[in-house]
Amino acid sequence: MSHAFNLASPEFTQNPYPVYAALREKAPVCQVDPGGFWAVSRYDDVVYVLKHPELFSSDTMVARTSRQDERLQREPVAVSDVNLLMSDPPVHTRVRQLVSGAFTPRAIARLEQRVREITTEYLDRILAKDTFDMMEDLAVPLPVTVISEMLGVDPARREDFKRWSDDAVSSGVGQLSDAEVERVLRSRREMRAYFHELIAERKRQPREDLISDLIRGEVEYGELKGDDVLSMVVLLLIAGNETTTNLIGNGTLALLENPDALRRLREDPSLIPGFIEEVLRYEGPAQFLMRQATQDVTLSGVTLPKGAIVVPIIASANRDAAQFSDPDRFDIAREQRGNVGFGFGIHFCVGAPLSRLEGKIAFEEIFRRLPPFSREPEPVVWRRMFSLRGLQSLRLRFDRSARSA
Ligand code: HEM
Repeated sequence: MSHAFNLASPEFTQNPYPVYAALREKAPVCQVDPGGFWAVSRYDDVVYVLKHPELFSSDTMVARTSRQDERLQREPVAVSDVNLLMSDPPVHTRVRQLVSGAFTPRAIARLEQRVREITTEYLDRILAKDTFDMMEDLAVPLPVTVISEMLGVDPARREDFKRWSDDAVSSGVGQLSDAEVERVLRSRREMRAYFHELIAERKRQPREDLISDLIRGEVEYGELKGDDVLSMVVLLLIAGNETTTNLIGNGTLALLENPDALRRLREDPSLIPGFIEEVLRYEGPAQFLMRQATQDVTLSGVTLPKGAIVVPIIASANRDAAQFSDPDRFDIAREQRGNVGFGFGIHFCVGAPLSRLEGKIAFEEIFRRLPPFSREPEPVVWRRMFSLRGLQSLRLRFDRSARSA
């Protein structure tokens, strides 16, 4: 069956916001393509869904993979029941405890110096050029390097990680060609082999890193077995990569489109944290989530049947005028009450303190070290990803003769 709205069409990928506005206004709870998923687009309804895991389960592994190519279904990266993102209490509660220690604001604050060093290294390379790509030269490598170091994996394998995580994300988008399926499978096998060996090594000889912590937790909790540690590592690698990269890319683009905000941030870097929150609201890297209704539930007058795959669109909730005044305006000083860019409730993003830190340091150093720059005259191309939003590339040119951007 074909529906009036499609959350995977090329036009949608280039600009989803008019579609969200139409959904909020005309069909706040309705089935959409692809998959006949039930899109939920109003702020209050999105929060309701996320607040009620007993009605809207995160146990969506089957729903997510059943649309994939059969060859991909047969060969997942990890066979595990304890995927943090896709589990409900009580399993979720225990697994979350296991990882959350590594991501508390205090634990993350200790990484500040190192994140700054890495950022500075990439910016030094950028400074040696006249033109650069903000994605390839900073936004992509920074989060991969940071999460690799946290996990304790070899930074020299960074490009492999990026490829593995790109392939993992692309396996969720529509029909893949045979060659694409083969590529994704090859990636999965490589990732699996690499982490299997690393986990075995850390079991023999633990270090001060996140993988060793997870293995220790495995012993303490007696919970994790088989591929569980592998599944968690893969989740952290992927969740930590795509999103923070796009926070930096989407944020840079928003500034180039809002020169007044750029000028104010250059003059007063204390405004950067507010700017980061506004990027998460206005052009969030995560656009929608997935849940499954455990019973019939009525929202905005529409009854979702038991078993329905529900897609709460957080990026639409964040543009709902019922919650945010003048929501389509990019305003770095706005009060951010209720921003759901990192989700809401028990699955609220574990990595939020880390991405906030990386985003803050990236922009502090960009403003401090880079001369003013402008966009190369070429169209903005958004990557085709399901539920995530980010740029293919963002090519920039230094404007070395100008005094300020
Ligand atoms: C700007 C960057 C990021 C954004 C916008 C973002 C967004 C989100 C959102 C919306 C959720 C909720 C998912 C749901 O309710 O189904 C989530 C969960 C999660 N995020 Fe992030 N994320 C970011 C960065 C990170 C980083 C850096 C990491 C780790 C290194 C990370 C790890 C996770 C994990 C493990 C979960 C699952 C938590 C749970 O289910 O309890 N994220 N993220």
